[in-house]
Amino acid sequence: MTSASPRTTATGAPRPGGPGLLAGHTVSRIGYGAMQLERLRDDRGTALAMLRRAVELGIDHIDTAQFYGNGFVNGLLREAIHPEDGVVIATKVGAAPDPGAPTPLRPAQRPEELRAGVEDNLASLGLDQIPLVNLRRLDTGPGLRAEGDQVVDIDDQLAVMVAMREEGKIGAIGLSSVTLEGLRRAIPAGLACVQNAYSLVARDDEDILELCTAEQIAWVPYFPLGSAFPGLPKVTDEPAVQNAARALDATDSQIGLAWLLHHAPNVLLIPGTATAEHLEANVAAAAIDLDEATLTALDAVPTRSTDIPLN
Ligand SMILES: NC(=O)c1ccc[n+]([C@@H]2O[C@H](COP(=O)([O-])OP(=O)(O)OC[C@H]3O[C@@H](n4cnc5c(N)ncnc54)[C@H](OP(=O)(O)O)[C@@H]3O)[C@@H](O)[C@H]2O)c1
Repeated sequence: MTSASPRTTATGAPRPGGPGLLAGHTVSRIGYGAMQLERLRDDRGTALAMLRRAVELGIDHIDTAQFYGNGFVNGLLREAIHPEDGVVIATKVGAAPDPGAPTPLRPAQRPEELRAGVEDNLASLGLDQIPLVNLRRLDTGPGLRAEGDQVVDIDDQLAVMVAMREEGKIGAIGLSSVTLEGLRRAIPAGLACVQNAYSLVARDDEDILELCTAEQIAWVPYFPLGSAFPGLPKVTDEPAVQNAARALDATDSQIGLAWLLHHAPNVLLIPGTATAEHLEANVAAAAIDLDEATLTALDAVPTRSTDIPLN
């Protein structure tokens, strides 16, 4: 076994996108979001092979959740990823599986539900400690909103997250779908990352990104390509992206990812895919050099709101 370094992962693979910092670990700036693996429920072998291919390609930061396929995706990670791979697994609590519901997800914001969520993830991932757990708020971005007893003060939630970090159940705390005000209140708790919906075409949270950069908190945008959900703005629909892709002999998606890497030094990517071809293309996006003129054209793309329900 090789040991991880700024240049290579624990398995000796060169780091796509170079090194980034997450929860006290050096990770490759191109990681992987495992949510799309839900689609491979009937093809477990392909899903496991995707995860092994990700490790081979130098990915050592993988995002998951217990509610991705009601434990299915965590089970894949447990089987495919080994301690010697040196992968930083990040999961999230604040929502729970709701099998059979039209959107199979329900809010689970109360402190005791956050604790239960961590326990569920520990069990399904087969870990003694989860390197990074995001507190998934419901304040902003696409999807669920809290109502009734699910409206919980962030300080009460951070108290249980900090307690679980002190108990050693979680290595580090992140925040997701948080407002600028929420982030400001949470910073004293010590944060490894923020995961908000953000891409070249959806940049409402630029001020939150700037605060993360100033505070050396990793910015791990979800929906970096605009997601698979219909109705959300897609990076690949943007003419400036398509022009840049033609000029640089790249794909539209690769331009969207390359722009994110160029945009701020603390950006870490977790694009989601269920196809090996796209996984390889996303890793290859790290090598795309965007010149000043292209960056200026991409920076000028108007932002569109992602603040819509999902179904
Ligand atoms: N914190 C949170 O609340 C939260 C919320 C949502 C998601 N997440 C995390 O963020 C990750 C990323 O979000 P996401 O997966 O929803 O959306 P995304 O990465 O923006 O986009 C995924 C979509 O893009 C397609 N795609 C990926 N690479 C491509 C390529 N090279 N060329 C063409 N199409 C490509 C995928 O299809 P194919 O499968 O066909 O490639 C899929 O339809 C998730 O996987 C999850 O881990 C976190």
